[in-house]
Amino acid sequence: MTSSVHEIADGIYRLSTPVTFPDGAGFTFNQYLIADEQPLLFHTGPRRMFPLVRDAVARVLPVERLRYIGLSHFEADECGSLNEWLGVAPTAEPLCGRIAAMVSVNDVADRPARALADGEVLALGRHAVRWFDTPHLPHAWECGFLLETSTRTLLCGDLFTQGGAEHPPLTESDILGPSEAFRAPMDYYSHTKNARGMLERLAAERPTTLACMHGAAWRGDGAQLLRALGEALDR
Ligand SMILES: [Fe+2]
Ligand SMILES: [Fe+2]
Repeated sequence: MTSSVHEIADGIYRLSTPVTFPDGAGFTFNQYLIADEQPLLFHTGPRRMFPLVRDAVARVLPVERLRYIGLSHFEADECGSLNEWLGVAPTAEPLCGRIAAMVSVNDVADRPARALADGEVLALGRHAVRWFDTPHLPHAWECGFLLETSTRTLLCGDLFTQGGAEHPPLTESDILGPSEAFRAPMDYYSHTKNARGMLERLAAERPTTLACMHGAAWRGDGAQLLRALGEALDR
């Protein structure tokens, strides 16, 4: 296994590791690195993938410079190697929403979290990120997303998960069809009644790049795609 590294927006790198499961099904685990004065890694990858992701980050910047290790929600592929990262980057802090900090991160992590309130902005240098609480969208009470405001890149976690191990780093082709095909049999979205409203709030930010955690990142009219997802969830 090796990880690939591609810049998908100005100063934002997609690190991607393909895997093949015993049944032959392929999948990808992606992390996003915002290279700046205060570098942010969004998602760590599963704990056993730490050496691969560390080497991928090191191709962009020294790992000890990392300042924030961000996560959308508390699962192994989002934050399984959080403490390994805190170990190699002495000034790094976990970065998450307030619910994640309260229910998991401030107990499990070796250092306290920088917990962001809904709507709060954090400056990284020439980039900045804004946190959006999205409880139970697609899953987990503590779930939320970051929008990088200078590039309008939405770090959208599991929202448009595409199966398969082979993807371009960045595509302008349809990803909703593949992600819906993956969602249908897996049922990994919660059944919250509030998805439409939360997706509309994200759409109002008019993201132009969607940094998907599984599959290709996507470029295009993000508002339209988020609204189309909302319609698909209502069907
Ligand atoms: Fe997840
Ligand atoms: Fe995920």
